[in-house]
Amino acid sequence: MFYITTAIVYANGDPHLGHAYELVLTDVIARYRRMIGDDVYFTTGLDEHGQKVQQSANKLGVKPIELCNDIASKFNDLCAELQISNNDYIRTTENRHKRVVQTILQELYDKKEIYKDDYKGFYSVKQEQFLQEKDRVEDGSWAEEFGEVIEIVESNYFFKLSQYQDWLIDFIKTNENFIFPQFRQKQVLEFLKNPINDLCISRPVERLSWGIPLPFDPGFVTYVWFDALINYISAIKYGSDQFSDIWPVNIHVIGKDIILPAHAIYWPIILHACGIDLPQSLLVHGFWNFSGRKMSKSSGETIDPLSLVKEYGTSAFRYFFTREMNVGQDSDYSLDQFIKRYNSDLGNDLGNLVSRLLNMGARYSDCLVPPVTVQDEPEKELLTLWETTRDEAVELYDGMQFHIALERTFTFIRAINRYTEIRAPWALAKSDEADDQKKLESTLGTIAESLRLSAALLAPVTPDISLKIYKLLGLSEISTWDLELSWSSRLEGKVMGEKTILFPRSQ
Ligand code: MSP
Repeated sequence: MFYITTAIVYANGDPHLGHAYELVLTDVIARYRRMIGDDVYFTTGLDEHGQKVQQSANKLGVKPIELCNDIASKFNDLCAELQISNNDYIRTTENRHKRVVQTILQELYDKKEIYKDDYKGFYSVKQEQFLQEKDRVEDGSWAEEFGEVIEIVESNYFFKLSQYQDWLIDFIKTNENFIFPQFRQKQVLEFLKNPINDLCISRPVERLSWGIPLPFDPGFVTYVWFDALINYISAIKYGSDQFSDIWPVNIHVIGKDIILPAHAIYWPIILHACGIDLPQSLLVHGFWNFSGRKMSKSSGETIDPLSLVKEYGTSAFRYFFTREMNVGQDSDYSLDQFIKRYNSDLGNDLGNLVSRLLNMGARYSDCLVPPVTVQDEPEKELLTLWETTRDEAVELYDGMQFHIALERTFTFIRAINRYTEIRAPWALAKSDEADDQKKLESTLGTIAESLRLSAALLAPVTPDISLKIYKLLGLSEISTWDLELSWSSRLEGKVMGEKTILFPRSQ
């Protein structure tokens, strides 16, 4: 089983582009793995506890769970609109999750991995964390990102994180592919050069009531990260047969802001302390910026992904965000660039090719895909280019280089357009020669087949458009790549659809 997850989103605001991107990226990988024959299990969800959610709900004058229900429904709509193929949606307020969090806490408590102590320190209300000296800026005050900082002393429970530091360093060094891209792995090792502290995992209920109570002391709820990270195992029923079938996870997809310390330090250590296998890898993507600045709920600069999907379609959205991001790096979003890609790659290169073929099919071959009997230089060239494109693209998908895989695929699509120009079916149609008739038929057959192959190669990124193209070529479904990616004559005699505009031009 190939298990893949996204981070679970904080339930304190509407979906924005960053969330949509993470869902799409993860879905592209999930669909790619299914295409190569893997059995995939894919989860995403909502992180509902914590001070921020409690505060947002208070501000709105609603109960925290009401706010969470509302946000969960917006995210479920987003998943549907983006055609995210997740198998489950885990919410941290569900009993199935709370039970597992409490089980893990109890296990660690029984193993004496958790102890009670006094904690005195500076606390950032905004970030829900105690701060350390290194969080101060030059003039001695706290960095702006921490918002209001207050000094508090309170009794709390601590998880013995620090004793695992050497083990973790060793684990990361011996598992070179634990974190992708590589430079993030180096950053984590750099971070681990300084001693790590034990982790305060509780909050007194008087300060925070919106959380999961500690099973061994109901006067406290558990810390948000301890609660949130466990979604990855609660979603697959920790302790059950399903869990044994699915765990360990193959890829946790996360953004660069939550690798340290949560996913690279807390999570491996929690699992190790519980005797649970470690994740195989963490895929850390970069951020979408808006004119170079971070897009976040607090800065107010968010873009409603649903409005883009409604205007340009699911596949256009998925295509743009996969084509423009080198996974691991940051990328800039602009509507101009979005429209440019939409009009040029999708509209001109792909969309026009489809409508041209259907148009010629109606005029010259009674809408049937004709047989390919001529294999001259232009056909051979296209076939050779297909074979290199396919081999390279599959390898690029495997190496998370989706933007280059798409670039190669579109180079091939442009080559189909060039081939059409060279063969000029409209000129061949004017000739009475039998040879030209054969060439005309072969040209249409060749265009149809190369279009089918391109659609199959694009399927993880543009599932609905790929399926639409398949249907327009007289096929009903796209199967796995071992069956779909070889040049064949399976379209011969199939009935093509009516002329269709897949991507109406946008201004
Ligand atoms: N709730 C935590 C994650 C818990 S996972 C056990 C959280 N939530 S979040 O809503 O702030 O972010 C969810 C995901 O969206 C994170 O992986 C984050 O990196 C990602 N993104 C948030 N803004 C983003 C961009 N502008 N661009 C790309 N991804 C971004 O963190």
